[in-house]
Amino acid sequence: MNLTHFKLRADDSQITWVGIDVAGESVNTMGTPVLDELNSLLDHFEKEPPKSVVFYSEKTSGFIAGANVNEFVEIGKTNDLNAAEALVKRGYDVYERLANTKYPTLALINGFALGGGLELALACRYRVAVDMPSTKLGLPEVMLGILPGWGGVKRLPQLIGAPAAMDYLLAGKTASAKTAKKLGLVDEAVPPRIMWNTAIGVLKAQPPVRKLSFAQNMLTNGFLRSFVASQAKKTVAKKARREHYPSPYAIIDLWQKYNGDVHKPSADEACSVRSLISHPTAMNLIRVFGLREQLKAQAKGIDFKAQHVHVIGAGVMGGDIAAWCALRGIRVTLQDLDAARIAPAIKRAAEMYKKRLRDERRIRDAMDLLQPDTTGDGATKADVIIEAIVENLSVKQKVFAELEAKARPDAVLATNTSSIPLEQIATALKEPSRLVGIHFFNPVAQMMLVEVISGAQTDPEVARKATAFVDQIDKLPLACKSAPGFWVNRILAPYLGEAMRCLDEGIAAEIIDEAALAFGMPMGPIELADVVGLDVCAAVGQTVTPDAKAPQKLQSLLEAKSLGKKTGKGFYTWVNGKAQKNSAGAVPTGLTDRLIQPMLNEANKALAEGVVTNPDHADAGAIFGCGFAPFRGGPINFQRATRHA
Ligand code: NAI
Repeated sequence: MNLTHFKLRADDSQITWVGIDVAGESVNTMGTPVLDELNSLLDHFEKEPPKSVVFYSEKTSGFIAGANVNEFVEIGKTNDLNAAEALVKRGYDVYERLANTKYPTLALINGFALGGGLELALACRYRVAVDMPSTKLGLPEVMLGILPGWGGVKRLPQLIGAPAAMDYLLAGKTASAKTAKKLGLVDEAVPPRIMWNTAIGVLKAQPPVRKLSFAQNMLTNGFLRSFVASQAKKTVAKKARREHYPSPYAIIDLWQKYNGDVHKPSADEACSVRSLISHPTAMNLIRVFGLREQLKAQAKGIDFKAQHVHVIGAGVMGGDIAAWCALRGIRVTLQDLDAARIAPAIKRAAEMYKKRLRDERRIRDAMDLLQPDTTGDGATKADVIIEAIVENLSVKQKVFAELEAKARPDAVLATNTSSIPLEQIATALKEPSRLVGIHFFNPVAQMMLVEVISGAQTDPEVARKATAFVDQIDKLPLACKSAPGFWVNRILAPYLGEAMRCLDEGIAAEIIDEAALAFGMPMGPIELADVVGLDVCAAVGQTVTPDAKAPQKLQSLLEAKSLGKKTGKGFYTWVNGKAQKNSAGAVPTGLTDRLIQPMLNEANKALAEGVVTNPDHADAGAIFGCGFAPFRGGPINFQRATRHA
């Protein structure tokens, strides 16, 4: 049989091996041509039944990343709901066919299996996951505002029980090979060297298919099903409003009422594919997915990879930047004035690695990569040097003058400054073109966005290397011009300022925050100011809007050294990391607009000034850097949509 995306091979153990190798792509995705070919393959197997079949990936990048999101993006452009519905139903039917074959099937999951990729594995009788860091199993469709319509909603609860399945379906989280084994999502989790033999062994033994325990069966298929559904809806309601994010609610309904069969609810507004896709959230979230890819794409083709990073300043930012780089497998030297100032950063790194890596050996490897450096010798060998010392021009200039003398001539010299114009710092250098900004956000481990700042003097080649470096450490690079506040703080400052003025007018903090939540912000501006730190907010406000009158309440809190979450008191009192809030009460008409409008205006202005280069990047920066309501697609997209509404 003639195949383009699959490779067939039979062997002595009477297994037909199906290698998935989507033509012309570095990553396997289940686009329509691939799905069609899988269907033809199933036709072929119907005529000449194999003894057993193993699906595996021929790509080193992973198993299957999911459906081809670009097909949804194209559908979004034409708003062709019939095409969208047909796409989902087609996938459902092909996987249903796979699930009903008489011969045993096994998915050998080498690397990530996400969305439509995991659904293919779920349709197989057995699953073996290869235990390696890149193996991740999950159904992230909810993050795109859609649902796992190719059998995921049906099969995942049957396999691991409804309560655990809801966790994965509704939050879009992923499981490692070991966790997947514990959950019962895979039959085996094995190291790469025995993966082939394990697949052969499972198909030879053909153990009975895993069944749910009595209690799990009650929760999944019995009379407790509606209880699980209503609990799940309550949990979702705490995090996402139905009018903003309909998909988690639709997933629960599709499971509860129709057992995940996408053909059934065609007229049910609550969970039909048609109603979900026609909601603006889905198209905006799919667009956001595209924006993320656009930011990453800036690093494509740049031939630069850091082996050694030197960070100067082991404080809040420098310490965490160093820890993050070592977590990403880069050798890091971390410099500060003395060992005592570096020690807390190393301790924080150890805690982060423990949480994220779990495995003792991997924790030790990461710790080995992170070396304290009180002499600053690391700077002589590093490919990238990041300065993250106090926000003081003359101190920074002095450090850069010394650095330039000892750094390698090809090393990237970067500052993490949030407010000092790059051109001013660069005057300390013999070659000012070497200086670029690599501006991380706090907390470093959680914030995906990193602004790559070019001053008027920055050599574009240096900015390109910085972009590649940001991508190398799995962050999203946003190219910005050196202008007060760059992009993120520039648009955040007027929004926070307006919120603080509302507070000075006597509107309760809780009501202000609620007004922003109603728009879809993940956190209200008053709480956000407390989290960022009121000293930092005041400094940013001063940089971006130097002429605006400083909000009074902010001033008095600063004078009392109540700096927000970090001191336990700011606009809110903080207990165990949580803001103590009263219930909000009704949000006055117009308050939401009053808060959001200054941010939209500033975004338009900054974009027109060329602080970022295009509207898509502007939206991406607002979403990934400020948490701008993702389902609204960013400030520029939002204004475009409201104008057309
Ligand atoms: P920090 O005060 O926590 O840490 C600064 C560290 O630099 C201290 O440990 C200090 O001992 C060290 N240091 C000072 N002079 C030094 C020198 N000559 N050589 C070596 N080490 C020296 O400051 P933080 O908050 O980490 O900020 C650092 C930089 O990052 C600043 O430029 C700031 O504007 C920027 N930034 C801060 C953010 C935040 O939320 N804190 C966010 C983004 C950027």
